Amino acid sequence: MSHILTELNEQCLTIVLNRVDKKNALTRDMYQQMADAIEHVKNDGNTKVVIIKGAGDCFTAGNDISDFANQQENAHVPETAAFMRALMECKIPVIAQVHGLAVGIGTTLLLHCDFVYATTDTRFVLPFINLGLVPEYASSYLLPKVAGHVKAAEWLMLGEPFGAQEAYQFGLLTKVVSPQDIEQTVLSAAKKLVEKPMFSLLQTKNLLKGDQSSVTQQMNEEFDIFLEALGTTAAQEAFDAFLKKRPINPEKFK
Ligand code: COA
Repeated sequence: MSHILTELNEQCLTIVLNRVDKKNALTRDMYQQMADAIEHVKNDGNTKVVIIKGAGDCFTAGNDISDFANQQENAHVPETAAFMRALMECKIPVIAQVHGLAVGIGTTLLLHCDFVYATTDTRFVLPFINLGLVPEYASSYLLPKVAGHVKAAEWLMLGEPFGAQEAYQFGLLTKVVSPQDIEQTVLSAAKKLVEKPMFSLLQTKNLLKGDQSSVTQQMNEEFDIFLEALGTTAAQEAFDAFLKKRPINPEKFK
């Protein structure tokens, strides 16, 4: 069974993260498949909405940590970047349907979606600092804009989980809904979007996004620092500790 499922139906592309036994942690293959799926529809002149959601009990546990730990030419980077660029440059609206957990890039990617619906029990976390890493894909630019510097600093410098209500209060979410209602809420939003005229839909998104040069500039800056961080003793210690299910050695995490 593929770790990414896609379905194109009624002018709506649905992408399902489907690596349930690993909490939908994202591998290189998964990123590439998602990038390909978005690239395929973004200019087809027919598809009007993309939905991204997770199978099982959560949205995603973020990047697969064994890929982070693999120092061979940062092998996972091209696929991750291909997906995030496809998402950021997607001309049609993107809806994220979030439940359970949205870790790391699972929260970062929400900043590049147009609608984010989350269940009341969702926990979000940006744990980069606890892995010896730094923010990625323009989150250090977009989060302060969305939530304010003080909240962004808390989320990114303490790296502790926060709930759906807090995420909503600080502008990360469109709406918080009960687990029973999330599927219907998202389908209903997608249906409304599909009923809009294509020209207005695309142009409205385009106008809302505006000039993306600051986003791209910050992303490139983060990128270089992220790659440097991956090679530090602290990061390698954090990855090894997670993969071996042992506590981090504070002597190596400085
Ligand atoms: N990368 C690789 N494997 C991961 C993973 C990740 N990001 N997240 C979870 N997994 C794996 C676990 O190793 C475990 O594998 P196993 O069954 O072979 O031992 C399986 O998924 C289930 O995870 P588990 O930790 O047992 O579930 P949990 O409910 O106790 O905890 C999380 C879930 C997400 C809180 C915890 O797995 C976690 O902290 N994961 C790392 C998240 C992270 O730091 N991501 C990177 C962000 S930059």
